[in-house]
Amino acid sequence: MICSSSGVPASYGQLLRAHRKKRGLSLTQLAARVHFDPGHISKVETGKRSPSVSFAKACDRVLNVGNTFTAIASALEATAHRQQNWLRPAQLPAAKRHFVGRHGDLRRLDGLLRGHDQGLAVPVTVINGPPGVGKTALAVQWAHRAVNDGHFPDGQLFVNLQGPEPGTAAAPIDVLAGLLRAVGVPPDRIPAELDQRAATFRSYLHSRKMLLILDNAADAQQIRPLLPGAPGCAVVVTSRSRLPGLTVLVDAVSLLLSELRRPEAARLIGAIIGRARADANPGAVAVLAERCGRLPLALVLAAERIVSRQHNSAEPLAAELRTRRARLDLAEGDVALRDAFESSYKALDEQSARVFRGLGLLPGRLIDVVSTASVVGVPPEEASLSLCNLAAAHLVQRHGESHYRMHDLLRAYAADLAGHLTDGSGHAMVKAPVTGLTPTPAPLAAAPLVV
Ligand SMILES: Nc1ncnc2c1ncn2[C@@H]1O[C@H](COP(=O)(O)OP(=O)(O)O)[C@@H](O)[C@H]1O
Ligand SMILES: [Mg+2]
Repeated sequence: MICSSSGVPASYGQLLRAHRKKRGLSLTQLAARVHFDPGHISKVETGKRSPSVSFAKACDRVLNVGNTFTAIASALEATAHRQQNWLRPAQLPAAKRHFVGRHGDLRRLDGLLRGHDQGLAVPVTVINGPPGVGKTALAVQWAHRAVNDGHFPDGQLFVNLQGPEPGTAAAPIDVLAGLLRAVGVPPDRIPAELDQRAATFRSYLHSRKMLLILDNAADAQQIRPLLPGAPGCAVVVTSRSRLPGLTVLVDAVSLLLSELRRPEAARLIGAIIGRARADANPGAVAVLAERCGRLPLALVLAAERIVSRQHNSAEPLAAELRTRRARLDLAEGDVALRDAFESSYKALDEQSARVFRGLGLLPGRLIDVVSTASVVGVPPEEASLSLCNLAAAHLVQRHGESHYRMHDLLRAYAADLAGHLTDGSGHAMVKAPVTGLTPTPAPLAAAPLVV
């Protein structure tokens, strides 16, 4: 390393002068070879002007010093750029105090860090699953861990894409405007066209180490313009849809979330209601967890109800949630289980919505095409197609080659929409008639658990 007389590493200008003199070149001779003005070179040498990257490349070539000058000029340019505009966004919502489980999924998300450290293509992980299963909670929990470990030093962006209901999904052009403002682009420099906004966003993210969380995405088209182009960034997408078409755009890794395991579900209830109440009747906690189908949203709502009603244990609520209607009615403050389900239901096409309602009338846990077709009154091919659509929306899950399963709470919701939700005594509480459904006399399975 060339040093100044004081022993401090030389500046760009000092280094340039030293190499020029070593080659025995005058300012004019160097100027002729690099095709820059001698006055320009003199100003760079005396530190009065910053070197551009193109000037640095010419110096490297003529003075035969590898990429010495290019590396310094690039670093100087990046620093200047950062100082001028760059806001370091830190948009992650707060992590949950009582986060439980998901160890394997957290480890798989760590794969994003390897991708971004190796500087490959932008790594993308998609977290899929039904409403209320904990997709957003997992993304946020992992992101906080990664940031605490020193990853993504240039910032984190978090945006709710408002999918999947038609009419509510955020338009990429508006999302990009918000993202550009968040990284410090002045409003008058945000282009009007979608493609130009996307290109500006990619330019701003170039050579940065940032995390982008695209929460609650509607479809692949909504995500496409928002993806960074440069390695160094990482993207986590959460969605209730499988996002068909995304893998054509990027090499995304998919994580599919389902309900919590038994001990974790009980732990989550216990963490919210406190040790004293949980220990007062651990059996009731276990029953309550099952009655909530171990779906995190239902577990949290149930646990919060115990706290707000100041019960001494989980027992009274476990007993109250004996009926499917009571479970479906779980709500605290402005968060309701039904609302979470409704936004997925409303995103279905007409035929799939009809089949979904029909599934609420089917007895037993397993669903097959033939009985679905007969209950809904459609040909098996149509029933099969609709079941595929429902699986893509995570309202049913495939079970083996020819069957599907449905979460108990979603089944209760479907039965309720069809006007066939029992009150627990086996009697259907018929609401408005549902057109297009063949009424079925099949009894609904009674709740298996007794407190
Ligand atoms: N692993 C978990 N540990 C603790 N709470 C969780 C967990 N997963 C989800 N929750 C809670 O359950 C509720 C629903 O989770 P959320 O992430 O919003 O679901 P989704 O995004 O899949 O609709 C939230 O209150 C969230 O904090
Ligand atoms: Mg979510």
